[in-house]
Amino acid sequence: MTNALKVAVAGLGTVGAGTLTLLAQHARSLERRTGRPITVVAVSARERSKDRGVAIDDFAWYDDAVAMAREADADVVVELIGGADGIAKEVCRAAVSAGRHVVTANKALLAHSGIELALAAEDAGVTLAYEAAVAGGIPAIKALREGLAGNCVTRVYGILNGTSNYVLTAMRESGREFEDVLGEAQDLGYAEADPSFDVDGIDAAHKLAILASVAFGCRIDFDGVYVEGIRRVAPLDIRFADELGYRIKLLGIATQTKDGIEQRVHPCMVPLSAPIANIDGVFNAVVADGDFMDTLMQEGRGAGAGPTASAVVADLVDIARGRTTPTFGVPARELGALTAAPMARHRGAYYVRLMVVDRPGVFADVAAALRDNEISMEAVLQRARAPEETVPVVLTTHETDEAAMMRAVEAIERMDTVAESPRLIRIEPL
Ligand SMILES: NC(=O)c1ccc[n+]([C@@H]2O[C@H](COP(=O)([O-])OP(=O)(O)OC[C@H]3O[C@@H](n4cnc5c(N)ncnc54)[C@H](OP(=O)(O)O)[C@@H]3O)[C@@H](O)[C@H]2O)c1
Repeated sequence: MTNALKVAVAGLGTVGAGTLTLLAQHARSLERRTGRPITVVAVSARERSKDRGVAIDDFAWYDDAVAMAREADADVVVELIGGADGIAKEVCRAAVSAGRHVVTANKALLAHSGIELALAAEDAGVTLAYEAAVAGGIPAIKALREGLAGNCVTRVYGILNGTSNYVLTAMRESGREFEDVLGEAQDLGYAEADPSFDVDGIDAAHKLAILASVAFGCRIDFDGVYVEGIRRVAPLDIRFADELGYRIKLLGIATQTKDGIEQRVHPCMVPLSAPIANIDGVFNAVVADGDFMDTLMQEGRGAGAGPTASAVVADLVDIARGRTTPTFGVPARELGALTAAPMARHRGAYYVRLMVVDRPGVFADVAAALRDNEISMEAVLQRARAPEETVPVVLTTHETDEAAMMRAVEAIERMDTVAESPRLIRIEPL
């Protein structure tokens, strides 16, 4: 068929094999929807003979994915190798230079080089599409860039990493420690052998930086994201959160403030009444506040072969239909620099858990450290008395400055009656 959209796929792992499966399984309905067949013509991975659970014999095979991007008879190159630079970036650049559209699921690459690639693609008159890079199967990019295009978006946030959400959910349900639950998640295939990108918040930060660019029409600023992962969340904090009417979630939050755009990823205490508090397990959610639309929340599977392939194919469908949209909502050359609001200027309420020696006067010292930094307390919880041992004391504050809170925590940490470094979790009144 002469009008087929010809596709070359680089990377045949979880997402690559899922994409080939979806394209084969839904070939007819996709053709009806786009008016043309979407035909895979070439593939590349490291090992040709590997069983991938999907037939690849009908496609031209390339050992060299960059050569495929340059030479294959394809309209679109789908990059599903991964990695912030190296081969994945070379594949995208070679495809754009050869006048081919690019579809990628690679958030690390986009967070670091998205603007450079978008400029090259827009100059070459081709599309750089990346729906699968943010929140897997959730059409978060399409919703922000197209569905909410009439709005001024003031905030975008979400549960952007399924592994962390799974670990926090399992910790709450079982009362077990972080390391224990993470090990189980690795055995079940929900966490990578090297889990740091997920549990240290980096993967969520990649996605947040992309979302912020689309939401606020500015260049991606990954280095401007404040990042804190979930390693220090303890079962005790999860229990106290329950008692106080909160859930602990790792959120990515980008907000337009008077000081600029605040981008932060960290564990949050979310009120149980907030819809996002009830997004559990491997599920993701993306929420946007728009001035005319109010609030939009999307929820769904943020990873896995099927959901991610679903997003990759949505991009292929757009390209097959000839729909074009500026990569980040505004032509790349017109995107302004992001003015980053410093984290020290963040304002919010805080949960602080201390392990203190149960002795008279200890709490008075803690209260004084807060008072000296003009922080007012909202609530205090103290558990059973146990002479000579440490006991948890939890306090929550009214809204205050991050810088003041950090000064107070440093002062508290220096007290010899405080046994370990205070655990601090920001409260988000979503
Ligand atoms: N997995 C998910 O749920 C998910 C969700 C959203 C986004 N993503 C993103 O999607 C991308 C792919 O993820 P994945 O989970 O599918 O990864 P994966 O399972 O590790 O697959 C990576 C693929 O890349 C191939 N590859 C590696 N180096 C190569 C090279 N030099 N030349 C050609 N091919 C090479 C591998 O070949 P071999 O098979 O021969 O080793 C493998 O097929 C990443 O950017 C990831 O962040 C993944």
